[in-house]
Amino acid sequence: MKPIIAANWKMNKTVGESVLFAERLSNEFAKMEDKDIIIAPPFTALHSVAAVLKGSALHLSAQNMHWDEKGAYTGEISAGMLIDVGCEYVIIGHSERRNLFAEKDEYINQKIKTAFKMNLKPIFCIGETLNERNLEKTFEILRRQIKEGLNNILSDDIKRIVFAYEPVWAIGTGKTATAQQAEEAHRYIRKAIIDLFGKDAGANNIRIIYGGSVNQENIAGLMDQPDINGALVGGASLNFESFAKIINF
Ligand code: 13P
Repeated sequence: MKPIIAANWKMNKTVGESVLFAERLSNEFAKMEDKDIIIAPPFTALHSVAAVLKGSALHLSAQNMHWDEKGAYTGEISAGMLIDVGCEYVIIGHSERRNLFAEKDEYINQKIKTAFKMNLKPIFCIGETLNERNLEKTFEILRRQIKEGLNNILSDDIKRIVFAYEPVWAIGTGKTATAQQAEEAHRYIRKAIIDLFGKDAGANNIRIIYGGSVNQENIAGLMDQPDINGALVGGASLNFESFAKIINF
């Protein structure tokens, strides 16, 4: 499986900073065929970054979208707008959206359906909080997020989802899950996909990437694990040198 190295810039970088980064990335990695490199700049920079990435092997993602196709939703962005601006992927269900903006599994489910309808590939984020882990509820939470987030999604579409396991306690805290903890969760996610959607969903070929304090030091150990197929990088993706090292792990 082709590994994915994705940068989630969250609410960071101006248009100018995003373009400069994308130009450097393109100079160095435009022809990279053995890994999928994805960058998710803020909405305001998508259009300019798309122009820089055009014709390269690099991929563009948005960080969020609304579930409806259009309408009176002040301040929101639709899937069609993301396609129009040149996005191929969209991050859905990030824990910051779930926790800070009260996004429920059912909204996430609607967003994933709309993303597919508009031909965007979802990067579907799931993960437990520290409290849930301490209560030994990790697997239960992951199963619920998968079951409800992907309710009524066809197995043909399940295959096209990139799953991102992001334990909430490891995001922006400098506390990474150990490679073994991450592998254990990834193995469980693959098993849950088979249980819930059957063999047709092709769980063994679905890419499950890890996010949570990934950096140039821990990336190789994570990528050594059989069920970890890539990384979704926050903080360490903001600096070009450190992101380039993660790509070259
Ligand atoms: P950090 O790499 O900053 O922990 O963020 C991870 C993340 O949330 C990526 O989506």
